[in-house]
Amino acid sequence: MDTILILDFGSQTTQLIGRRIREIGVYSEIAPGDAKVGPLLKKEVRGVILSGSPASVYDKDAPLADPYIYELPVPVLGICYGAQRMVQDRGGRVSSLENREYGRARIRFLEQSSLFSGLADGFTSWMSHGDSIELLPGEFRTAAVTENGLPALVVHEQKRIMGLQFHPEVSHCEGGLQILENFALKICGARRQWNMETFLNRARSELQERVGSNKVLLLISGGVDSTVTAALLLKALPADQVHLMYIDTGLMRLNESEEVAETLKDLGASHLHLIDGADRFLAALKGVADPEEKRKIIGDLFIRVQAEESAALGIEGLDRAFLAQGTLYTDMIESGKGVGSRAKVIKSHHNVGTPLVERKRAEGLVIEPLSSLYKDEVRNLGAMLGLSAEVIGRHPFPGPGLAVRILGAVTREKCDILRRADAIYIGELKKRGLYNKIWQAFCVLLPSRSVGVSGDVRRYGYVLALRAVASTDGMTADVFPFAGKELLEISSAITNRVEEIGRVVYDISSKPPATIEWE
Ligand code: XMP
Repeated sequence: MDTILILDFGSQTTQLIGRRIREIGVYSEIAPGDAKVGPLLKKEVRGVILSGSPASVYDKDAPLADPYIYELPVPVLGICYGAQRMVQDRGGRVSSLENREYGRARIRFLEQSSLFSGLADGFTSWMSHGDSIELLPGEFRTAAVTENGLPALVVHEQKRIMGLQFHPEVSHCEGGLQILENFALKICGARRQWNMETFLNRARSELQERVGSNKVLLLISGGVDSTVTAALLLKALPADQVHLMYIDTGLMRLNESEEVAETLKDLGASHLHLIDGADRFLAALKGVADPEEKRKIIGDLFIRVQAEESAALGIEGLDRAFLAQGTLYTDMIESGKGVGSRAKVIKSHHNVGTPLVERKRAEGLVIEPLSSLYKDEVRNLGAMLGLSAEVIGRHPFPGPGLAVRILGAVTREKCDILRRADAIYIGELKKRGLYNKIWQAFCVLLPSRSVGVSGDVRRYGYVLALRAVASTDGMTADVFPFAGKELLEISSAITNRVEEIGRVVYDISSKPPATIEWE
C-alpha cells in the first residue's frame, strides 16, 4: 500500500501529521528521526516527512538525520525543525530569533509552488518556532515568507526536497490539509488506498491465517479499544474460538459490567467469562489512602486474578491459545515497541507487561490487531463492525477505576455514592448534548465533609468535585467552559438525588499544571 514515512524528531504534533495523512486516505507510518532510512524505504514508500522537534538544530544533543534522506528517490518535506535540519545539514545556517514567531501568521508567496497549489497568497499559517533559517544553502530557494520576511517555504532546486517553517498538521493552519494533500497526492503521487474497509478485509484474513483453528483469549476492560478488538475477532473467527474475559473490580461505573456484557452478547460472543472480583479488590484496598499504593494493589491483584481465572477457565488448548490485546498505534509508539520518540506513557494495566502477556509474547502468541490504528480510526472501525455510537464515543476510564476518584481510603459505600453521582453528571451532559464535546468528564469524591442544611437540620455531607476537560490525547487538557447555568443545574440535580452529597464544586485547573485525574 502506498505509504508516507514520517521521521519523528520528538515534536508533540508528529502523531497529528500521521493522522492527517491518513485522513487524506494515504497510509502513514512513523519512525525515529535518526533511523537508518534505507531499510525503511520499502517500495511502497512514496514520500518522507521530517517532523518538528522541541530541540534546536544547533543544540549539542540535537537529533540528527540519516544523510541518505538527501539522496532519496522520493520527495522529502521538512516541517519546522525538519526544514531547519535540512538547511543546517546542507551547509546553511539556523539561528535563534529575538522574537519567536508563535500563533497565526500570514504567508506571502515569492513564487508559485506545487506545495501551495490551491491556496491564496496571504493565507494564515500556524507558527511555533524560536529559530529561523538565516542562511540558505545555494541549492535551495525561498518560495514564501512570513509577514516578518522570514522564510516560510524553502524549496530545493530539483523540487523534490522542501521545507516549511510552519505546521500544516495543526487545525489552526488554514489550508494545512490542502498542503499535506498536495504533498502526498500530487508531489509524491501516493494513491488513496487507506480506509477502514481495506483495513478490515486485510485484518480478517491475517487473523484467520495467524490463529488458524486455535483459541483466542481477550481481556475486556469495557473501553473502546478492547471492545472493538472483540468485535473484530468475532467478525474474523468462529465465535467458538473467541474467549472474552471481563473482571469486575467493584470499581466500575454504574451498570458498566451489565452494559459491557450486553454489548458483547450482541456482537455474538458465546464464551463470555464475567468474573466478579469486587470483594477481593475492596478487601485488598481496605484502609489504603495513598494513591500509588492503591494503584499497585489493584495492578498486582489484577494480574493474580487474571492468571487464576484464565487457568480456571479450563479451555482445552489454552496453552496454545493466542492472547489478543487492544493496543493502538499510539500505545506502540509510546511504549517504544514500535517506532518514534515518545512523550509520557500512560497505559492501563490491561495491556502492560503482565506475566501472562510476557509469556505469551515470548511464545509469539500475542495478537494486537489494532496496533496500526489511531483512536479515531478505531472508532470508525467499531462503527463498521456494528458497535453503537454510545459504546464508541465513551470517555476514557482509568484502569484503577473509581479507586483513584475517591480521595483517601476506598469503601464500598463511597463507591456507591460516587457511582450514583457520576451517572447523574454524565446523564446531564448527554441530555444537554455536551458529552461528545468533552474529552473526559467524571466526578471525584473528596475525603472531607462539609456542613449543610436540609429541612432545617444541619447535616455533614460529602464534597463532590466535577471534572470536565477538552483534550485530544490526554497529554494536555483545557477546562471545559460550561455556562454558569449548566453548572448550577447539574449541581442541583446531584444534590437533590444523592443525599449523602452536600456540596458540589467544579475543578477549574488545566493540565498542566494539574493532571486530569485527582490522584
Ligand atoms: P492524568 O491524570 O495523568 O490522566 O492527567 C491522563 C489520562 O490517563 C488516564 N489515567 C489512567 N489510566 N491507569 C489508566 O489506565 C491509570 O493509573 C491512570 N491514571 C490516569 C486518565 O483517566 C486520563 O484519561
